Amino acid sequence: MQALDFTPYFAQIGPDPLRDAFAMRRAVMPFRGGKALTADEMSEQWTRLLDADGPSIDAKAKGTELGRVAYLHVPFCANHCLFCGFYRNAYTDDQATRYADMLVAEIEREAERPAIRAHTIGAVYFGGGTPSALSATDLSRVLTTVRRRLPLAPDCEITIEGRIIHFDPDKIDACLESGANRISIGVQSFDTAVRTRQGRRSSKEQVIRFLEDIRDRDRAALMIDLMFGLPGQTAEVWHEDLRICDAVGPDGVDLYGINIIPGTPLHRAIERGKFPAAPTLTDLGAMYRAGSDFLAARGWRQISNSHWGRTARERNRYNLMVKAGAECLAYGSGAGGLLGRCSYTVNGDLAAYTTDINRGQKPIGGMRIGDDLQPARDYIAASLEIGVLDLARLSVPGAPDAAKAFAPLLSQWHAAGILTIADDTVRLTTAGRFWYGNLINAFNDILIKLNGGSPPAFPMDRRSTAYQHTTGRIS
Ligand SMILES: C[S@@+](CC[C@H](N)C(=O)[O-])C[C@H]1O[C@@H](n2cnc3c(N)ncnc32)[C@H](O)[C@@H]1O
Ligand code: SF4
Repeated sequence: MQALDFTPYFAQIGPDPLRDAFAMRRAVMPFRGGKALTADEMSEQWTRLLDADGPSIDAKAKGTELGRVAYLHVPFCANHCLFCGFYRNAYTDDQATRYADMLVAEIEREAERPAIRAHTIGAVYFGGGTPSALSATDLSRVLTTVRRRLPLAPDCEITIEGRIIHFDPDKIDACLESGANRISIGVQSFDTAVRTRQGRRSSKEQVIRFLEDIRDRDRAALMIDLMFGLPGQTAEVWHEDLRICDAVGPDGVDLYGINIIPGTPLHRAIERGKFPAAPTLTDLGAMYRAGSDFLAARGWRQISNSHWGRTARERNRYNLMVKAGAECLAYGSGAGGLLGRCSYTVNGDLAAYTTDINRGQKPIGGMRIGDDLQPARDYIAASLEIGVLDLARLSVPGAPDAAKAFAPLLSQWHAAGILTIADDTVRLTTAGRFWYGNLINAFNDILIKLNGGSPPAFPMDRRSTAYQHTTGRIS
């Protein structure tokens, strides 16, 4: 094995690793090596994939049965919230109902194929865009189709993502009656002024009443998303956001550091000087620590780097499985899936998606066959996501003793306060959790180098954090 230079990945040793371990933050990209397929290859490969009914190679290679998830994308929103890079199409009633017809057709068409029937599905996620923008009737018929036609496990987690505006009680009833058992609401901030400036129309009082109503129905796990680093969201406002979250008592919460995405209205407004400059990584690090400490002190358990659970009802199954590289069946314009080593996207262009569905074809937008490093990449990403990496189980093609190969890097990170190592087990500190994008990318680069390749250049960002799923919604 060649000697590797780890110094580009070393952390700075200083008084506070959360503030200054790295000069830049590396975005967590859904990096998949391997080969992109041409349009002709994609349709042949899709037919082959749907006909396969054996266990996936990767589940065997990882020595674990990861199971499978399904993701359904709803690419409509009532308005474009300034910070958001996921916005695609304005919501209209007619278009949304036609879209629900197409989603139903897409699911029905594949439902009896061997690959779809081969494995049970442990978690289903309706993401967006805004699934809760669909009418009660459309939500109900898409959910019912999923439950009737896909082989869901009896304890399948079924999440509907939504926002408060237009998520009326009859829609919530429709979701619950049709089998949703987890509702995830984007709150972002409770502060009315901070919300309004980002295009979120409900006031603090309306948000609280809405969440309490779902909570008090006691029929589904309630999740909320909070963001930190939004314009006008001072340390005091952030503390108040956390306090209200704890007082309302959802089953789980995500804390996302803002990512100022080029091309979003927020990015443009900052460029034009209409908003103050984006928060620095030092500010974001401090807010992450404040959130992490606040929730820990009140008995919340940290499930992943950005997610905390309060009650036993919260499993966070979909996110954990996706991060671990579980197979994912994808439906709807803008969704991303994975079958065996093959990752694919469903065409994010709504017109192209519609044309393909009307022709009876799967609207595949792109496809890649992953390389031999993918199982190791998935294992590392899934482990760092939960903050614990078992070195004894790390298996890397081309590196018979993978733990030894990474030892110089791990001991430097240990010295810098990013992690601890005991009994072959690496545990991330709060700083390590904040910088996990850098750690995952360093591992990826080194895996490639261990196999004689050159890692691709990745964007570095001094000011923002990244929010991205490996499969599921494609941003
Ligand atoms: C795909 S969005 C959909 C949420 C839902 N449509 C809503 O409006 O509440 C899921 C979550 O991503 C987070 N998010 C969106 N844009 C972000 C950004 N630029 N930086 C960090 N997190 C972001 C927000 O917390 C959001 O609730
Ligand atoms: S935050 Fe939600 S509603 Fe707002 S633009 Fe993004 S996906 Fe749409």
